Amino acid sequence: MGDIATIYKLSVISFALFGDVFSSRCSVLECWFVQERPGGGGFSTRMTQEKSVLYIRTDPDGEMIEHKPSSDISPSRIYYVSDPESTFCSSALHPPEGTLNKPQCEINPFIPQASMVKWASPLTASAKSPIYLNADWYSVAAQGLNGELTLANVMRAPSGSKELSVILSVFSKTSTVRSRLGESVLLDCGFWVDPSSPLHGSGFAVEWRYQFRGEGRLVVAYDGLNDRFAETSGTDAELDIMGLYETGNASLILKEAQVSHVGTFICTIYLPHLLAQVALELEVVEPPSLAVYPSPLPLSAPGQVVKVHCEASGFYPLSLDLDWEFTDADGKKRSLGQGSVTGHRQASDGTYSQSSRLELDSLKLGLGRGGEISCVAKHQGGTRRATVTLNIIGVSAPSVEDSMAMVAVALVLYGVIKVIFWTFSSNGLSNEDANNKKEK
Ligand SMILES: *[C@@H]1O[C@H](CO)[C@@H](O)[C@H](O)[C@H]1NC(C)=O
Repeated sequence: MGDIATIYKLSVISFALFGDVFSSRCSVLECWFVQERPGGGGFSTRMTQEKSVLYIRTDPDGEMIEHKPSSDISPSRIYYVSDPESTFCSSALHPPEGTLNKPQCEINPFIPQASMVKWASPLTASAKSPIYLNADWYSVAAQGLNGELTLANVMRAPSGSKELSVILSVFSKTSTVRSRLGESVLLDCGFWVDPSSPLHGSGFAVEWRYQFRGEGRLVVAYDGLNDRFAETSGTDAELDIMGLYETGNASLILKEAQVSHVGTFICTIYLPHLLAQVALELEVVEPPSLAVYPSPLPLSAPGQVVKVHCEASGFYPLSLDLDWEFTDADGKKRSLGQGSVTGHRQASDGTYSQSSRLELDSLKLGLGRGGEISCVAKHQGGTRRATVTLNIIGVSAPSVEDSMAMVAVALVLYGVIKVIFWTFSSNGLSNEDANNKKEK
């Protein structure tokens, strides 16, 4: 008997230990409970915000592991969530203890409604499951750390109960996607529907909208009930229909990223009377192409000013640092400053260009015999560099040949001076003669 008791105790202890290891990752989530203030109304809808906590259980038969909530959470804002698909369990929502940044989470009351949009309205044409809908509904929007997860869950609780079940979950692994121009882009979005819900298998619709600075447009809409796409203007985006049905993969593929795609993409999944959506930001980052001209630079003499231009084009977003750099014959680098930078211009594809002009005065700038002149463009998308060679003639450290040449030049100069002197002195004499004759 004693042995059995010991085994029993041991198993309880190990169970508790393991339970803790697993549970600590996904057992509790703090969220802000946000709702319109009852009796608010009027023009300004006022919101109230209260601390709340969700206790999460992934095993339907498992124990709900309850921690002692901090005293500033009202008991009415404690919820017990059944989440068999572990949608709340991403590590992005459960950072290690002591992490300064906290994931964002908000829970709101949710009201099931028949959808008005054309691609989702067939879902509610038959007005299915009205009794099932008669319950307390909540939606949760959560954002993991480092943009690693965006999540929107719709949950149901029997009226008056705090025992919630996740019915619909829409999620994206990335809240921000960054792309070069012309690359194909995957905007990740997936969804899950509780298979035990009567809404499972009664159809769905998918919608992708694009929004930028208050303006929006429909990108793709798919009516799953009728297996039909809505009319959309562009055809530069597509859904993988197989993936949609097989794994709930509603990801959008943009064939070629363009500046006109920069903005917010919203993935919405409709079930009869329910919807959940996640938003993704698409950033396009394209470093500039650089050209320096004239190339090659003309040969120049010491003190002669050579103008050199650098043109940076095709970059996005706008911010760019242009700099000039000189590398002397020994490979030593130094900055020649920015030059005169022009304002930017925007091309029809939305990319920018900007240029800089530099006056190379080899004496003032101390460029010696010349070297490499580089235009350096620092951009969010990377640093680019274009180089031309500057040759300054007539300046060099004297070599043997140079010394001989100098002697030769000196001799020639000596000869020239001598000739000039002779000519001048004989001319001077004859002029004097002429003057003398006039006076007479
Ligand atoms: C979703 O589908 C896209 C396109 O087929 C694919 O690249 C992506 O890996 C899929 N995502 C998941 C989670 O399976």
